[in-house]
Amino acid sequence: MLNEKHNGNHRFGSKIGFILSAAGSAVGLGNLWSFPYKAGVYGGAAFVLVTLIMVIILGLVVMLVEMYIGRHGRGDVVSSYAKISPKLKWVGYLALLVPFIISCYYIVIGGWSVKYAMSYLVAPDFINTAGDSNGAFTSFISSPYSPIIFTGIFLAISLVIVCGGIQKGIEKASKILMPTLLLLLIITVIRSLTLPNSEGVMQGLEFFILKFDFKALGWAGVVAAMGQAFFSLSLGMGAMIVYGSYSGKSTPLGKSAAMVCVFDTLVALLAGLAIFPAVFAYGLEPSSGPGLLFATMPNVFSSMPGGALFGFLFFALISVAAVTSVISLIEVATGYLIAKLKWSRKKAALLFGGMMMVIAVFISLSQGAIPSINFFQMDLLTFLDELTNTIMMPINAIIACIILGYVVKPKNAIIELRQTEKLKLGVMWGMLAKYVAPILIGIVLIFGVSAKVKSIGDGFYFVIGLAVFLVLVTVAVNIIGHRKDKKNTPIEPPLV
Ligand code: TRP
Repeated sequence: MLNEKHNGNHRFGSKIGFILSAAGSAVGLGNLWSFPYKAGVYGGAAFVLVTLIMVIILGLVVMLVEMYIGRHGRGDVVSSYAKISPKLKWVGYLALLVPFIISCYYIVIGGWSVKYAMSYLVAPDFINTAGDSNGAFTSFISSPYSPIIFTGIFLAISLVIVCGGIQKGIEKASKILMPTLLLLLIITVIRSLTLPNSEGVMQGLEFFILKFDFKALGWAGVVAAMGQAFFSLSLGMGAMIVYGSYSGKSTPLGKSAAMVCVFDTLVALLAGLAIFPAVFAYGLEPSSGPGLLFATMPNVFSSMPGGALFGFLFFALISVAAVTSVISLIEVATGYLIAKLKWSRKKAALLFGGMMMVIAVFISLSQGAIPSINFFQMDLLTFLDELTNTIMMPINAIIACIILGYVVKPKNAIIELRQTEKLKLGVMWGMLAKYVAPILIGIVLIFGVSAKVKSIGDGFYFVIGLAVFLVLVTVAVNIIGHRKDKKNTPIEPPLV
């Protein structure tokens, strides 16, 4: 077990295994929980449209950049960056921090979905008796022990898979779980679209795909859409770098990235189709925020024929999607510990899991049991979600693009990628990564953050905005300075 290279468990076994695992990482709570609730808050179709644009011009581009960096470096996040240049190690460390933060709150929400799935199976009364699923949800998340126990259960399931290794754990689980997920989702969509109140169903569809309310979107919505695209595609922190490094020699990365983006977006759209028609058909509010999934959907199920069964299927689906994503988050850090400290996979995963659990306890308690755990009027979960999605991930994505554009140079990357596929749009990809992505992400960041300053009127966001700006400047100076150092030593393509 010490050296994974010897047992063939250090790489994905097949192209399809790679694609499904990357898709498994991408498809998760981002698609099923945050995409619908953010669409509900930020004007429905307008948010959907902007998110789609972000996926196409930023998501796909950044995904290929990350997969490329991973396969070029063939190592964990830190050594992949270090392979490009030893001076870039710090970018890898930065990238390690984000998955750690995300996984701490991700497992809390994962725990909620396990609780809901199990409740529908064995005790649907938990949600239905009071006829008030909002109250049931609030009292559940604000109770001290129960959500923590379910968080622990969810984490334990994920750790078992990660401990199984790449082929026998992650890849095998993804091959079974991803098709199951798609099937469950399609069943829920059909149920939602065929509800008796067809007028409500139509209204839901209109809200989600036809009525563009750009006022409700605003700049805050645009930056949320960008964060959403990155989060949903698992970008801006090294997950795709790690997966890229595990990909087989002949896996066409461009095609794989495109397939993952299409699949991920499809699942998000299906989730919207499952949720909004049902929400409108039962006369509920689409803009209820993070509670949309847990507080609003159970209302829908309780008034639906066969509701307990659909409730179970729906939350089982969410739990499955969350597991396949969180294993990728955990893998980023365990992969690093295994490579760096020569730890066994088990030891690394358990240590990392233990640290996550400690922080998750505080996150769970901040949901109401101990309301004083909050930052700038946000509970710990919302705070960490905002911090990673709208600030840290976009910054990491900018850095990855700048490194590809100015240190690696697109033409070198394209030569390497073309050893396995035609990559017809290669030149365009290079231009988008070098010029468009960093500027666009930077603009959205600045406008989005300043829109928040206005809406919240809190000095906090101003400080964050300033910090963002300073970090960007530092990064630019660092990278450009570095480029001058290396001017005459172009990166040689590897001998794959
Ligand atoms: N993409 C996942 C989702 O939509 C979450 C996730 C998994 C993630 N791995 C990631 C987000 C890496 C950012 C980076 O739920």
